[in-house]
Amino acid sequence: MSKIKVLTVFGTRPEAIKMAPLVLELQKYKDEVESIVCVTAQHREMLDQVMNIFDIKADYDLDIMEKSQTLCKITTKALVGLDDVLEKSKPDIVLVHGDTTTTFVGSLAAFYHKIPVGHVEAGLRTFDKHSPFPEEINRLLTGTIADIHFSPTENNAKNLRDEKKVGDIYITGNTVIDALKETVQENYKFTQDELNNIDYDNKKVILLTAHRRENYGEPFMNILDAVKEIAEKFDDVLFVYPVHLSPYIKDNAKEKLGNIQNVKLIAPINVDDMHNLMAKSFMIMTDSGGIQEEAPSLGKPVLVLRTETERPEAVQAGTVKVSGVNKSDIINDAIKLLTDSNEYEKMSKATNPYGDGFASKRIVESILYHFGKRQEKPTDFKV
Ligand code: UD1
Ligand code: UDP
Repeated sequence: MSKIKVLTVFGTRPEAIKMAPLVLELQKYKDEVESIVCVTAQHREMLDQVMNIFDIKADYDLDIMEKSQTLCKITTKALVGLDDVLEKSKPDIVLVHGDTTTTFVGSLAAFYHKIPVGHVEAGLRTFDKHSPFPEEINRLLTGTIADIHFSPTENNAKNLRDEKKVGDIYITGNTVIDALKETVQENYKFTQDELNNIDYDNKKVILLTAHRRENYGEPFMNILDAVKEIAEKFDDVLFVYPVHLSPYIKDNAKEKLGNIQNVKLIAPINVDDMHNLMAKSFMIMTDSGGIQEEAPSLGKPVLVLRTETERPEAVQAGTVKVSGVNKSDIINDAIKLLTDSNEYEKMSKATNPYGDGFASKRIVESILYHFGKRQEKPTDFKV
C-alpha cells in the first residue's frame, strides 16, 4: 500500500476540539498518510469557531445544521451526505470521535461502504441508555461497528473488553489534553475584551455551561434556579455563562438569568478563550463532558450538573463531584466550595487522569501499526 488515506469525520464543537490535534498530527506524516477531513456541520457557528482557531479546512462540508434540528433529521441528512463522500474519497479508514449523532452516522456509513472504522474516545459508559441521551447509545453502537478503538483510559478499555467488542484496543489518553497544552498561557489576553475586563483577583468567577438534551425541562430549570439563588446570596461571585446556541437553552437562560447583575451571559467563546477562562476561574459548574476532562489538569474544582458521569476517573481523584440536577443539592455543593477552604483545597489538586498531551501521536502510530507500517505497537498511556 502507498499512503494510507485517512478520512476524519466530525460535526460538533467538542468533536472538532478533540479531533483538531489529531488532524494536525496526521498532517505531519505527509509521506505515509493522506489526511482528508469531512465535517457534517451538525453544528455551524460553534464548529467554524474551532476550525478557525486550529486553521483546519474541510475537504467536504455537508452543511446539514438546521435550527432546533431533530435527531432523525441529523441522522438521515448526514448519512446521505456521507454516502457520496465515501463513494468519492474511498478512504482506507474512517475516524470518528466520541458519541454524537455525527459519530454514530459516520461509523454506520463507513460500515455500509465496508471501510474500517477507528473510534477515538472509545469505551466511555454510564450504563444507562437514557443518560446521556442519545450519547450512551451512540457510543455503544459506534463501538460495535469500530475495527480499532482508541480509548483514553484503562477504565474505558476495560469497558470494551467486558463487552467483548471486536477489534484492537489502544489506550491513548484523550486528545483534548493535547489541545489544552497549546491553548493555556500565562498572561493570556482574551480575544473578547469583556473577558479581559473581569476582576479575577477580587471576584470568585464561576464558569457555567449547560446544554445536555436529557436535562431539557425540569433539570435545566433547576440548574438555572440554583444559579440564580447562588448569585443572589454571594455578591463576590460572578457567574460567566457562555450560552450554547441551542434555541431551547438560549431562550431559557436569557429569561431566567438575563437580569441578574452578577451573572454574565455571553455567546459561545473560542476554545483558546475558554481554556484560559477555565484557568482563571474559581470553580466550574457544568453538564459538559469535555470540560470534566479539561478542568482537572488545570486544578479547578468541578460540580457536574448531571445525575451520572461516564468520566469517573476525576471523581475518584476527588476534583470532580457529581452534584445532580436538584436545586438544593446544587446550591449546597456550591456553597460548600465557596465557604469551606479545606473542601476547596481538596478539590483543587491538579491531576491528569485523562492524558499526557501525546494522545494524537499514539493514535497516528497505532494506525500505522495497524496497516503494517510500524513493527511495534505504541506504548499505552498510563496515569
Ligand atoms: C450536540 C451533541 C451532543 C454534544 C453537543 C456539544 C447529538 C445528538 N448531540 O448536542 O452530544 O454534547 O452537541 O455541544 O449529537 N446550534 C446553532 N449553532 C451551532 C450549534 C447549534 O444554532 O453552531 C443550535 C441549532 O438550532 C441546533 C441546536 O443548536 O439545531 C442543537 O444542536 P444539536 O447538534 O442538535 O444538539 P446539541 O445539543 O448541540
Ligand atoms: N467550549 C468552548 N467554548 C464555549 C464552551 C465550551 O470552546 O463557549 C469547549 C470546552 O472547553 C470543551 C468543549 O467545548 O473543550 C465542550 O463542548 P460541549 O460542552 O459543547 O460538549 P460536550 O463535551 O458536553 O460533548
